[in-house]
Amino acid sequence: MKLQELQQLDRDDPLRNYRSLFHLPEGVIYLDGNSLGPAPKEVFQKMEKVLHQEWAEDLIRSWNNAGWWELTDRLGSMVAKLIGADDDEVVVCDTTSVNLHKVLHAALSLKSGRNKVIAEADCFPSDLYVLEGVKSLRPDLEILLEGRDGSSIHEMLDEQVAAVLINHVDYRSGTIRDMENLTRQVQEFGGLTVWDLSHSAGIFPVQLNRCRVDFAVGCTYKYLNGGPGAPAYLYAASRHHTACNQPLSGWFGHARPFDFERHFDPDSGIRRFVCGTQPILSLRALQSGLEIYQDVSLQQVREKSMALTDLFIKLLKNECAAWELEIISPEDASQRGSQVAVSHPQGYAVMQALISRGVIGDFRAPNLMRFGFAPLFLSYQDIHDAVKQLKQILESKEWNQEAFLQKSKVT
Ligand SMILES: Cc1ncc(COP(=O)(O)O)c(C=O)c1O
Repeated sequence: MKLQELQQLDRDDPLRNYRSLFHLPEGVIYLDGNSLGPAPKEVFQKMEKVLHQEWAEDLIRSWNNAGWWELTDRLGSMVAKLIGADDDEVVVCDTTSVNLHKVLHAALSLKSGRNKVIAEADCFPSDLYVLEGVKSLRPDLEILLEGRDGSSIHEMLDEQVAAVLINHVDYRSGTIRDMENLTRQVQEFGGLTVWDLSHSAGIFPVQLNRCRVDFAVGCTYKYLNGGPGAPAYLYAASRHHTACNQPLSGWFGHARPFDFERHFDPDSGIRRFVCGTQPILSLRALQSGLEIYQDVSLQQVREKSMALTDLFIKLLKNECAAWELEIISPEDASQRGSQVAVSHPQGYAVMQALISRGVIGDFRAPNLMRFGFAPLFLSYQDIHDAVKQLKQILESKEWNQEAFLQKSKVT
């Protein structure tokens, strides 16, 4: 596709105005919004107010007057809109890993006679580490991994399976799992599903209620632009609220926290999943990211996401076929999230060379360059320009320098 045609696509893009809502550094093409979203411009001014007024001036009164106490729920209902849940089924608190602990225990508490949990061998490793932690408290638990203990989740299901943990979009390849079918299959055996939505919420419409999902968790610092380490969300279907237990009980999850009773009596709703005092400053920063999404059409986001990733793949094939690149992500856009993973024997160094030119993606061991396409701020021309830079780097072997070959802690 010619540059002029891409520029026309940008002019016709129904999402084109969202780009101006983000702070995008000069000279940067940001292909890592799937890892850490950029700062919404509003956040600077809003945080000024939070710091100077709500904290500095109003002090502890802000728990009531500025709505700090309800922030977990208010932001939860903003996320609920994006993932097809009811307002009172989502809460924003803690981190994805911590929330995963809670919902896995909650799922197990609902299926006390069962002792198996299935997960994907290649899911985001922290999810597996969490599962190991859950097992340390439930030694009878058997963890079965798709791809290692059996070829597919479907083949491993039986009446002993309490829960199945699934990453909606694979963090490496970007492959989408079929939420509706998998959830139905698990529930046919009487099990519960736990979905990790970290790489799906905000880039296509997720339909938790329509698919009858039981529990879900996800990060907000990626496509939802909540800021580094922004608190995560937790979804529990309302039909499970009163019956399930989670072990991280604390006063924020108590039915009457300010009665300061001796014993824990969980809130009857989603708040039972909140443990203790939450990071208000981070919640406030996340609010700016979520506000942007309140009038976004996720259908339009999905359409543009597919077009951007298609374009990237097509340009890679046309322009960079001479080098040892292999596209790991599904070629069929309907099977792909909003990222494209490309392997190269020197993937790390190539990515460092790209970053030094202002084209920012990331790297996942052993050899994957990962490019994320956040449709709210990327243009079609950005994709063209990024591939042009990549081609120059491959052609000139610019990546073959000590500075690019040295691995940093965070890749
Ligand atoms: C799919 C997935 N799940 C879980 C996590 C862990 O999130 P956190 O470190 O916020 O607990 C990540 C982090 O990148 C992730 O990508």
